[in-house]
Amino acid sequence: MPESIGADSGSNGRLDAAPSHVAVIMDGNGRWAREQGMPRYAGHRAGKENIRVIIEAFARRRVKFLTLFAFSTENWDRPEDEVQSLIEILSEVIKSEVDALHRQGIRIRHLGRLDRLKPELQEAVEDSVRLTSKNTRMTLNVAFDYGGRTEILDAVRRIVADRHTPEEITEELFRRYLYTGSGPDPDLVVRTAGEQRLSNFLLWQAAYAEYYSTPVLWPDFDEEEVERALAAYASRRRRFGQIAEPAS
Ligand code: IPE
Ligand code: IPE
Ligand code: MG
Repeated sequence: MPESIGADSGSNGRLDAAPSHVAVIMDGNGRWAREQGMPRYAGHRAGKENIRVIIEAFARRRVKFLTLFAFSTENWDRPEDEVQSLIEILSEVIKSEVDALHRQGIRIRHLGRLDRLKPELQEAVEDSVRLTSKNTRMTLNVAFDYGGRTEILDAVRRIVADRHTPEEITEELFRRYLYTGSGPDPDLVVRTAGEQRLSNFLLWQAAYAEYYSTPVLWPDFDEEEVERALAAYASRRRRFGQIAEPAS
């Protein structure tokens, strides 16, 4: 049992006021566009505008790690023009936001595969990671071409390539081979637009995350909604498999 859990848990389980790592499944752009009578890509554009606002909102609330799910390994199966517009948005976000994020002390990391993006975009992602690597205010993980199953298989392949013996393969070793490396697991997973599923997001890391689903569509998810999600988290009791009452 990890010592920190025992140390922090009171008789009602662990009650943490603030999560240090929040992961967000930014869903509902398509439905938002439909509600406005606009094409789906207009929803993705509105969703893009919201990213800046929400990063700043979490950073101000001292969340140290924020992971945003922007494009899944399954999203490649959408119509070609939608896939292209999502890739275009990634490229625009890098051009328009990275300098500002750097000035705000935000360290950018990428979770997922890079090899299916154009070489120029791969370089732009790598440059933004390099540029911001020493920043300490908050770490922003951008999950793009991310899939939890692919991540686990990638880890297994690299463990095998490194010739680890079965005895060496502990949870600690395995986690270091995931895209998130030594970063902490999410404490809170937020999903907008009402679905109650993980959609292949952080399968290993979210094992004990608190889950919060809101019907609010991603482009409408604002600072007030951030407060609501954090308030919901603050009221949860995390037990990590232990019992709520002290043993008698
Ligand atoms: C989230 O919005 C963006 C991505 C998954 C890339 P959607 O495009 O999934 O929006 P809905 O779910 O169709 O409303
Ligand atoms: C999950 O949303 C992926 C992202 C938000 C990037 P989807 O819209 O792809 O998930 P499903 O298809 O509803 O499960
Ligand atoms: Mg969706």
